[in-house]
Amino acid sequence: MVLATGEGRAILPFNHPLRNKVSCMASQLPEGDPRLECILIDEAAIEIRLAELARAILADAVDAKRLRLVGVLKGGWMFLADLARAIRRENGPRVLYEFIRASTYGAEVKQAGETERQVAIAGLPANIQGDHIVLVEDILDQGFTLSAIRRRLLAEGAASVRLCVFLDKQLEAPAPEVRRIRAELIPDYVGFPVPDRWVVGYGLDVDEEFRDLPYVAIAREEYFQN
Ligand code: IMP
Ligand code: MG
Repeated sequence: MVLATGEGRAILPFNHPLRNKVSCMASQLPEGDPRLECILIDEAAIEIRLAELARAILADAVDAKRLRLVGVLKGGWMFLADLARAIRRENGPRVLYEFIRASTYGAEVKQAGETERQVAIAGLPANIQGDHIVLVEDILDQGFTLSAIRRRLLAEGAASVRLCVFLDKQLEAPAPEVRRIRAELIPDYVGFPVPDRWVVGYGLDVDEEFRDLPYVAIAREEYFQN
């Protein structure tokens, strides 16, 4: 399978109509959970963006005999499930779906050299030798998780690894170490940029809660201190 190189990245352009939908002003929280501040990205916006991402992924894979999408559990499950259907609606090529499990340990890096984060990876698909892979993840935050998984997939023989993230967190004051990792980790496909807050829903959790929300909401940090 050959991935065309022409299209490049599919980020959300600044003049995209969905841009002003990523805002707490755009919609309120219907169920009124006091632990959630607002809906950041509603279902309608997600649906539109999924179709666009599906088309962008397929446009880059025009010569593809098959496409291999690898989702990262747990957070990426809802995104990959919906993306799979969006790709099918576009009558794309045969797609193989895999899931891997990743857990990132250690405190977030707040200051340079303060701490090292460990990423445990399980369930790596067999026979990825020569495959072109699209890695599908819920959110790019400090970048440790995706960076480790990509390195591992390439070490196992993948010919290329493209990054598809539903959310791209716009870090306000990244530590130098984080800035370095993020600079090497430019995602090829981004659903939505999100502010530097804790977001939940659409696969993302706080302590395993809220993963099943069909939209993305901002959590009130004061309810979740531990
Ligand atoms: P990173 O290694 O710092 O990029 O962290 C990525 C992982 O942390 C993601 O795959 C998520 O599972 C989790 N994560 C980071 N930010 C958030 C958030 O705002 N809400 C929920 N989970 C998050
Ligand atoms: Mg994750």
